[in-house]
Amino acid sequence: MDRRDRLIARARQGFRLAYGVEPTRFFAAPGRVNLIGEHVDYNDGYVLPCAIDRETIVALGPPAPEAKVPHFEAVALDMGDMASARDSFALGGRITPGENNWQNHVRGVIQAMGRYGHKVRPARIAIAGDVPIGAGLSSSAAFGVAVALAASEYSGLSLAPETLAKIAQIAENDFVGCACGIMDQMASAASVEGHALLLDCRTLQTLPIPIHGSLAVTVIDTGLRRDLTTSAFNQRRAECEAVAEHFGVKALRDLDSAALLAEEGALDPVLFKRARHVVGEMERVEPVAVALATGDTAALAALMDEAHRSLAADFDVSLPAIDHLQGLVREALGEAGGVRLTGAGFGGCLVAVSAADARTAIDDAVARYNRATADLPASAETFKPIGGAAPIVLG
Ligand code: GLA
Repeated sequence: MDRRDRLIARARQGFRLAYGVEPTRFFAAPGRVNLIGEHVDYNDGYVLPCAIDRETIVALGPPAPEAKVPHFEAVALDMGDMASARDSFALGGRITPGENNWQNHVRGVIQAMGRYGHKVRPARIAIAGDVPIGAGLSSSAAFGVAVALAASEYSGLSLAPETLAKIAQIAENDFVGCACGIMDQMASAASVEGHALLLDCRTLQTLPIPIHGSLAVTVIDTGLRRDLTTSAFNQRRAECEAVAEHFGVKALRDLDSAALLAEEGALDPVLFKRARHVVGEMERVEPVAVALATGDTAALAALMDEAHRSLAADFDVSLPAIDHLQGLVREALGEAGGVRLTGAGFGGCLVAVSAADARTAIDDAVARYNRATADLPASAETFKPIGGAAPIVLG
């Protein structure tokens, strides 16, 4: 049994246990790692994430035959015991937030679908996943997109990937309370196997960028997590919006380095640094896409290192231990690839895009870091870039 078969078996088993019958359909949506364009999506710029072979699976079946009022029922198999990880809410009326965070990803999605005029049929679902939670690999986007896809397909709506992504984002914004952008949900909904996804976050246009055959994408999980991630994230977003307002533009996408520099004296120094990161990061996205497609590891090394330093010094979303590990991996790789903090930050993961045979250099650097660090060991894993959310056809 491979990874996905095991996950499907777990979702099937959980569905049987919760509802006493077999599920009839299965759906999957992947997590993602962002290669470049960090904290750029909510500033309307271009980003370059790719979906990874870690997914949320939804097993779905019709509602209980005895149910009188149309309900949507869910059990989340990774979110605690069978009692606390269940939810049931009526369709048709106003859907309000639930007590647990995971419930709000389901309720938020179904509510957003209704708000946009998509009529959801009553159903029962069981959700299982293997996207690491809290590691910056977008387990919540995978969760939201998988639920949106399942509800859409079962209700005969066949919503487009951009619509599924927007619905999952609205659920996070309105029900979960995170002012996230659209990147994670789009990566989960619209990625293409073997490619990274160049995404224009203003228009939602996408261009799949082939990942050169000599390269590998490795995620190094530091194990470090910072509290208050949501509030710090929302604060960064507010800081970026304050700068856009200062310039009278819609978003920082509409600004270039020269215009920003000219106003340095008039801006609060912290706001200036935040904007300097975003504007600089936007300029790195296209060169990284070219380096990815051509296998130019020396360019990846230089651009990703610049990106890391900018995230740490100007956007202030790194931690000293993460900077230390990034330095060790960077030195070990030399010109064989690049490494930087990925995702929202505040702890989490580094991503390395390197020559596939440089994996031992990464492992050596991680081992050196772990020997010197007492408690939390870091670990590296190479992921395959897979396709976006889709129904599962069982053979
Ligand atoms: C989180 C958010 C995304 C994006 C990244 C930072 O993953 O959910 O929308 O803003 O952080 O690039």
